[in-house]
Amino acid sequence: MSLNGKVAIVTGGNSGIGMAIVLELARQGANVVIDYVSHPEATEALEQQVAALGDRAIGVDADVSKVADLEKLVAAAVSAFGRVDVMVNNAGVETRTSILDTTEAQYEKVMEINLKSAFFGTQIAAKQMIKQGGGGRIVNITSVHEDWPMPGNTPYCLSKGGMRMLTRTAGVELAPHSILVAGVGPGAVATPINLSTMNDPELMKKLDGAIPLGRMAKPEEIASVVAFLASDGASYLTATTIFADGGIMQSSPGL
Ligand code: BGC
Repeated sequence: MSLNGKVAIVTGGNSGIGMAIVLELARQGANVVIDYVSHPEATEALEQQVAALGDRAIGVDADVSKVADLEKLVAAAVSAFGRVDVMVNNAGVETRTSILDTTEAQYEKVMEINLKSAFFGTQIAAKQMIKQGGGGRIVNITSVHEDWPMPGNTPYCLSKGGMRMLTRTAGVELAPHSILVAGVGPGAVATPINLSTMNDPELMKKLDGAIPLGRMAKPEEIASVVAFLASDGASYLTATTIFADGGIMQSSPGL
């Protein structure tokens, strides 16, 4: 297995894409720290699934919008497993609000959970990787909306655009330490963040029609890209984003 003996942290790790990433990294042999803020029972169930794969996982209740909690997360990884090899900044929310109706509270929430957490998660994990030596991998889960407008979801697009530049800039700054920083930009994925669309057949028809592959992704189809980025096979890949979007960013009515 390609990640045997590696230690990974996944923020927002007990649901959606994060949960699939935890399982895929474990399947590849990594021990995993699962960050979560709610549903401890889901985290416990996931810990058991990881154990069944022959690896170890610990759940850590940490609010990644707070720097002190990110420090707690990295410290927990070091205390349980001795090091951090892979940091996955995955936690994310969206408000589906436009520029005209977004409140200050909504703006701050999205920017703190999506962007501030990835910035300080990168910083704190990188400090640990430098301390232990031997480099490391940081993977930022962004979105097609790091570069592609989604009208009616403006704060989310801003936060993902910020993560795009975080990935590029941190990738350059941390390269001398052999810390590789890459983004994964999913399109529409069947996870709780998209429940309102998934529950509306008309919207689903419209969405599927806009995707060249004709369907949403399964979370596992994003997790496999993250596992690749954490592996030796991605040793020359930094400061850029891989889009796993079924072609949605390139779709055209051909008119
Ligand atoms: C957003 C979804 C959206 C999808 C495709 C994701 O990043 O979270 O709300 O449906 O991008 O546009």
